[in-house]
Amino acid sequence: MNVEEVKRLKGVRKITVLTAYDYQTAKIIDDMGIDMILVGDSLGMVVLGYHDTKKVTMMDMIRHTQAVARGVKSAIVIGDLPIHSFDTIEDALANSKRLVEAGAHAVKLEGNKPEIIRAIIEAGISVQGHLGLLPQTAKSMRVRGKRSRDAEQILADAKVLDSLGVFSLVLECIPLDLARRITRAVATPTIGIGAGVHCDGQVLVMNDMLGMDDGYCPRHANAYLDLNNLIGKAVKSYIEDVKTGRFPEDRHSFH
Ligand code: KIV
Repeated sequence: MNVEEVKRLKGVRKITVLTAYDYQTAKIIDDMGIDMILVGDSLGMVVLGYHDTKKVTMMDMIRHTQAVARGVKSAIVIGDLPIHSFDTIEDALANSKRLVEAGAHAVKLEGNKPEIIRAIIEAGISVQGHLGLLPQTAKSMRVRGKRSRDAEQILADAKVLDSLGVFSLVLECIPLDLARRITRAVATPTIGIGAGVHCDGQVLVMNDMLGMDDGYCPRHANAYLDLNNLIGKAVKSYIEDVKTGRFPEDRHSFH
């Protein structure tokens, strides 16, 4: 898969995207045929345990992009530019190049930043846009674009990003009717998270779709597994086995 192929999928079939932050997970989802893997700055929350994405650094993103890239053969790997890494054109270019050197095929950045996006694309690096709820700068995690003025602004921003040539556009937590209008209005594929069924593709945070959090799954996500419970049960069995001497057995031992 490459970015040109992704663009051609609009209107043909839905595009599949998941986040990943480590080698083994990336390898599994790549083997399963996912189209794109986003090394999202959501890693700040689900991997590093921060409250939000605002403390994620370029070093965090580089380390995890490298790990994911080592596991991927087919999918497009997208490295997320963390907060303040694209404040100036110079920073945006330097940091996009660092993510590409780490193994990303493209970068994602939040918001309508025309000069920044144009400069990165002109440097030959593909950009994924991100509109709607923008966690790096958001004061609350509420749905965006419910009021008509906000909706028109997001639609206008989407058109700007489309004209700049982003190869896809994440729409996070906006009403599905707005996502439908944007999807119809732009040539670039829209990738929804909490943006309904009309987007050209969907992205989920891997940990949400695996049910990793204890009993919590955001409304926009679907937990396809109760991994929190499964891991808990496995660990409980291990603790019991060690305490009672059932593990290790002879077959685990060297003679
Ligand atoms: O960081 C991330 O995982 C993201 C997705 C929620 C789109 O930006």
